[in-house]
Amino acid sequence: MTTHLGPDVARAAALLRAGELVAIPTETVYGLAGHGLREDSLHRIFEVKGRPLSNPLILHFASADALAGYLLPERVPAAAHTLLAAFSPGPLTLLLPREPAVVPDLVTAGLPDVAVRIPAHPLVRQLLGQLDFPLAAPSANPFGYISPTRPEHVLKQLGGRIPYILDGGASQAGIESTVVGFGPAGEPVVYRPGALSLERLQAVVPATRLRTEAEKVKPAASPGLLPYHYSPHTPLQLFGPGLRPAPAFDPARTGALTLREPLPGLPANQQVVLSPGRGDLAEAAHGLYAALHQLDALGLELLLAERLPNTGLGVALNERLEKAAARK
Ligand code: TXA
Ligand code: MG
Repeated sequence: MTTHLGPDVARAAALLRAGELVAIPTETVYGLAGHGLREDSLHRIFEVKGRPLSNPLILHFASADALAGYLLPERVPAAAHTLLAAFSPGPLTLLLPREPAVVPDLVTAGLPDVAVRIPAHPLVRQLLGQLDFPLAAPSANPFGYISPTRPEHVLKQLGGRIPYILDGGASQAGIESTVVGFGPAGEPVVYRPGALSLERLQAVVPATRLRTEAEKVKPAASPGLLPYHYSPHTPLQLFGPGLRPAPAFDPARTGALTLREPLPGLPANQQVVLSPGRGDLAEAAHGLYAALHQLDALGLELLLAERLPNTGLGVALNERLEKAAARK
């Protein structure tokens, strides 16, 4: 199969209506999209991604109004409406009680909640506006590998396996959406830190919290949140205050990913500085996955990555780096 690349929304819509898969741009990362209600399309997503069926998918909608019919309205917590009003469209994914007669088991891995998201990228908004069904879409990377933030990342990883990549340029946020479920009192609970920081969620719903350690070990809580993920093929090790020092390394065979300034002693072309001189975490998020793709392609022995300040977007970025370091 030849993979075509372009900005043709009508072509993407026609393929998706016919049950084919299309890579879609979003403001977070590129998604591998298929018809969210068709079993054949859903199976094909798992097959192309190499993803276990136990790991549920996010359904993408054109607007908050378009969610009607897919959820059990009387069981949607009040805080969900507050968050949707504040942050949609945007990099927020909510886990909400699904209408089981409408949302296929394959989407949720049989769980009672479905992950829903209203993406902000203008091309995917146009696309969803032309469809009368939601799009199921995981990140468009092979299972366990670095997520794609540019069409060329998708082409390299999935070229030949899907007919079309809708080209929307580089993803602006650069890391995945924040996945938010709800606790026993209806309070928002962050399952996956992401492009929307805890601080920004708490500014709207102060009771928002991270998962407790006990909630994290419950296997059914989020089957997809595995300890390794986002991994380059090259071994990666974190460095920074309080972490074990980097092993003895050969500078000629080592790369580095840092926030503000390069590491002395390593060749400049084996290093990426995410926000030179500024240390801006949004800029770092925008470039993180592209930097990992670039460094991984050099075929080095080791990548050293600097642990980032653990506030705001730094929480999500450190989580990605830790998972990249904890390879299979
Ligand atoms: O930014 C994003 O969220 C991107 C773009 C394409 O929208 N999508 C994305 O999808 O990151 P994916 O499949 O790579 O990650 C979705 C995460 C997984 O960790 C999955 O386990 C979790 O959301 N998830 C999905 N449905 C769930 C559910 N019903 N209950 C608990 N966790 C769920
Ligand atoms: Mg993913």
